[in-house]
Amino acid sequence: MCGIVGYVGGAECVPILIDGLKRLEYRGYDSAGLAIHDGQKIDVVRAVGKLRELERALEQRPLSGQTGIGHTRWATHGSPTEVNAHPHVAGDVAVIHNGIIENHLALRAELEAGGRSFASDTDTEIIAHLVDEELRRDADLEQAVRGALRRVQGAYAIAVTSVREPARLVVAKSASPLVIGLGEGENFCGSDIPALLPYTRRMIVLEDGQMAVLERDGVRLSTLDGASVEPQVRSIDWSPVMAEKEGYKHFMLKEIFEQPRAIEDTLRGRLDREHGDIAGVEFGLTQADAAAIERVVLLACGTSHHAAMIGRYYIEELAGLGASVELASEFRGRDPVVGSGDLVVAISQSGETLDTLMAARLAKGKGARVLAIANVMGSAIPRMADGELYTRAGPEIGVASTKCFTTQVAALLMLAAYIGRRRQVLSPERLGALVEEMARLPHLMRDVLQGTRQLVANLARRYLTARDVLFLGRGLSFPIALEGALKLKEISYVHAEGYAAGEMKHGPIALIDSEVPVLVVVPDDSCRERSMSNLQEAKARGGRIIAVSTEGDDEVGRLADDRIEVPAADPLLSPLLTILPLQLYAYYVADLKGTDVDQPRNLAKTVTVE
Ligand code: M6R
Repeated sequence: MCGIVGYVGGAECVPILIDGLKRLEYRGYDSAGLAIHDGQKIDVVRAVGKLRELERALEQRPLSGQTGIGHTRWATHGSPTEVNAHPHVAGDVAVIHNGIIENHLALRAELEAGGRSFASDTDTEIIAHLVDEELRRDADLEQAVRGALRRVQGAYAIAVTSVREPARLVVAKSASPLVIGLGEGENFCGSDIPALLPYTRRMIVLEDGQMAVLERDGVRLSTLDGASVEPQVRSIDWSPVMAEKEGYKHFMLKEIFEQPRAIEDTLRGRLDREHGDIAGVEFGLTQADAAAIERVVLLACGTSHHAAMIGRYYIEELAGLGASVELASEFRGRDPVVGSGDLVVAISQSGETLDTLMAARLAKGKGARVLAIANVMGSAIPRMADGELYTRAGPEIGVASTKCFTTQVAALLMLAAYIGRRRQVLSPERLGALVEEMARLPHLMRDVLQGTRQLVANLARRYLTARDVLFLGRGLSFPIALEGALKLKEISYVHAEGYAAGEMKHGPIALIDSEVPVLVVVPDDSCRERSMSNLQEAKARGGRIIAVSTEGDDEVGRLADDRIEVPAADPLLSPLLTILPLQLYAYYVADLKGTDVDQPRNLAKTVTVE
């Protein structure tokens, strides 16, 4: 949460910082600000609200300089006001920060007792004061930041500039993400890779406990203790256009339609169609490792948790292993029984979600082997894991996750099939057939998106005034019902609930009346007959049934008020097809309601708080 960006070089930095912040705005959009060093002094402009408010403020008070920092905020400590917006200034120092300083109250009391006064309610301002105190003891900026950080506890990615050192930024990180971009005669920092993509593809992902000094002609890394660090420079293969809307009205719509490509990329080189196997990806597991697994534990939050629920079905069915799914935040709240023999799969688009990261660390500390499934290269969770599998969805900008969900599901399907084959639970024939079906996926997904787009847009209009919407599914379609409901809630603010279809009669059926659309996900799989009974029960209570079913299922056609069809495929693939119209439904409802689809209220893309 919160996005930070910094620049030092020979160019006018305001447009670069604003552009970087636009790419980071999904991380938070309560307020934003810039601090620019013009060679003599540091000027700050901040504004409440989205970036366009900051741009308006800059029209009134233009800034100019070649060193600067910028921030877009998701408020934690202190309400979203201008005084609480970053950058925060104390004396000669300006700071931007993503994270939470846990001991800020104690430090603030101490600094106030020493005569310092605070302008904001934020935890971040502490850092500015601490650095400024160190500067006044004749430290240079690097030493001053190091000295200040010795005193703070918590999570941070910070960038600091000082009046005294015009062409230098000092950055540091612990728990919150920070990437350094290497240019020619200029260097950058940012909260994530897409922010810097238009300027460079050569990046250093800073590790926890590291800091760096950025100057025009070089970057120097060290630990917080002062030991120098050899940087590992990565070449990023994402292109800047991947982070553009490319003619779509919203990133979310673009990302929904990107899914066939994202799945194709995620499967590329990993399906061995000649031998009917999963290849070119080992998940950090040898055949012996796979054979030694006793249980699989899947950890995740939000949409990634719904992917994990699908993963459990895959692991049980294809790998013959017991599997449990855990909300990372709840897993951490217990003393979970987990250890050697367990494969813990941590699933996270950002690879930075704090609850998932901490839960994975907890499991690793208890002796489990951790495998990360993540989309952002070099992010914290894959870095701490014993093995990793990257989904290749490309940057996901819309706060509501779409293409990362389906690529996670595809990754989990590959993982389950890989383990199943190596444990000799999954026959070569079944795996061969599955690999062929997976190879068809991009084509099937394209068909669903093209074939249902208009119908779903019409349904969204027809049911636009519904105050509550229910989503039902069984088996593999239960997580799809949950995910369909989450999508609708988060971007359209319509109350929606996802239920296991069989649970309806245990309570939620009381919610159904003729005003409530009920989206029933009922593909042609082993749960179909029982789901049909639940569909009938909902219909008998007057519910308006929208069914998502397999092409040619005439019985569904007769019972449902409206029907959305997906092509016939291996039942294990059904979640990857049935989710598409539900994503579209949420999108069109939100768009018709005029909500901020890509940046829904109160949310942030990467949740680095507990
Ligand atoms: O980056 P992660 O996959 O770890 O994020 C987990 C959730 O915060 C995320 O899926 C969230 O639920 C999305 N807004 C859903 O669209």
